[in-house]
Amino acid sequence: MKKLTYKNGDQMPIFGLGTWKSEPGEVYKAVMEAIKTGYRHIDCAPVYGNEKEVGQAITDAINQGIVHREKLWITSKLWNNAHKKELIQPAIENTLSDLQIDYLDLYLIHWPVVLKPDVSFPKTPEGFETLENVPLEETWAGMEKLKENGLAKHIGVCNFNIKNLNTIMADAQIAPEMNQVELHPYLAQNELLQFCKQNNIHVTAYSPLGSKDRPDRLKEENEPVLLEDGVLKEIANNHGASSAQILISWAISRDTAVIPKSVNPGRIKENFDAQNIELTDKEIEMIKGLDKNRRYVSGSFWTTKGSPYSMSDLW
Ligand code: A2P
Repeated sequence: MKKLTYKNGDQMPIFGLGTWKSEPGEVYKAVMEAIKTGYRHIDCAPVYGNEKEVGQAITDAINQGIVHREKLWITSKLWNNAHKKELIQPAIENTLSDLQIDYLDLYLIHWPVVLKPDVSFPKTPEGFETLENVPLEETWAGMEKLKENGLAKHIGVCNFNIKNLNTIMADAQIAPEMNQVELHPYLAQNELLQFCKQNNIHVTAYSPLGSKDRPDRLKEENEPVLLEDGVLKEIANNHGASSAQILISWAISRDTAVIPKSVNPGRIKENFDAQNIELTDKEIEMIKGLDKNRRYVSGSFWTTKGSPYSMSDLW
C-alpha cells in the first residue's frame, strides 16, 4: 500500500475510507468491513454526525485483534463553530471521546469559514462570524498547540485556497502538513497541487468519485456525472476495471491521498483493489483533457444572502 511520508518520518496510507454521508446505522458495518479488507486510513469529521459509530467500529476492530491502533491512520476535523482559541481543544477532546481514541493522526481545520459557537449550519446571517473577528492565523495557533500537546500527531486544513494557505503560513510555527480538497478529473486543481508540493503540504482528494450521494440541495440540474464519463469508461474497459477504480488509481498516481466513501461491502473491496491498477501515460493524458473546473461541493452554503463570505474568498 502506497504511503505519504511526513517530515518526521510518519507515514499515512495514501488510500482511505471516506465517511461523509455514511449514515449512522450503516457506517459501523462499513468501517468494520473496510478494516477487515485492509483499509488502514479512516477519514472522519464531527459534522458528519457519525463519529460515535465510527469509533465503536474502530474500538471493536482493535479489541477483536483485527488491527492495532498504531497501524491505523485516523483523521478528523475542527468544525467551523469551534475556531475560537478557547474552543479548539474542547472540540478535539469531544472527537477523541466519540472515536474512543487518545490521539488523532491528523486534525484539520474543516473550512476557512467561522460560525457562532452554537451554530452548526447558519439559518440567518447572524449565524456567521467574520474572519476579522476570528482570524485563521489565531485558529492555526490553536491547532499548533494540539500538535505540541500530542492530541494530534499532524495538523492541516481543508478547503484552503493558496491565499488562505499563505495567510496561515506567514505566521505559523508549524507549517500546515495537509490540505484536503475536492479533487477529481473534472476538478484537477493543478495550480493548488503545485503550490502544495512546493511548500511540502500533502493533499487529500475528497469526493474523488464525484459524490453522487450528496444532498439534493447541493446538486445542480443536468450536472455532469463523473462516474458516467465516456473517457473514464473507455480506460476502465482497458483494465477490466470500473470507472471508480480508475478515478482512485488516477488520484494515487498523482501522489494525492484519496478517500472514496462507500457503505457497500462489494464497493469497499472494489475501491481497495484499485490500488493495484497502473494507468499508462497515454491514459493519464486522456484524463488530463477532462478538467473543467467542475465543483460538486461548491461551498454555496457559506455564501447565502447576507453572509460575510463570498465564492471569491473560498476558491
Ligand atoms: P455507496 O456508499 O453505496 O457505495 P465520493 O467518495 O466521491 O463522495 O462518492 C461516494 C458515492 O459513490 C456514494 O454514492 C457511493 O455509494 C458511491 N460509490 C462508492 N464506491 C463506488 C464504486 N466503486 N462504484 C460506484 N459507486 C461507488
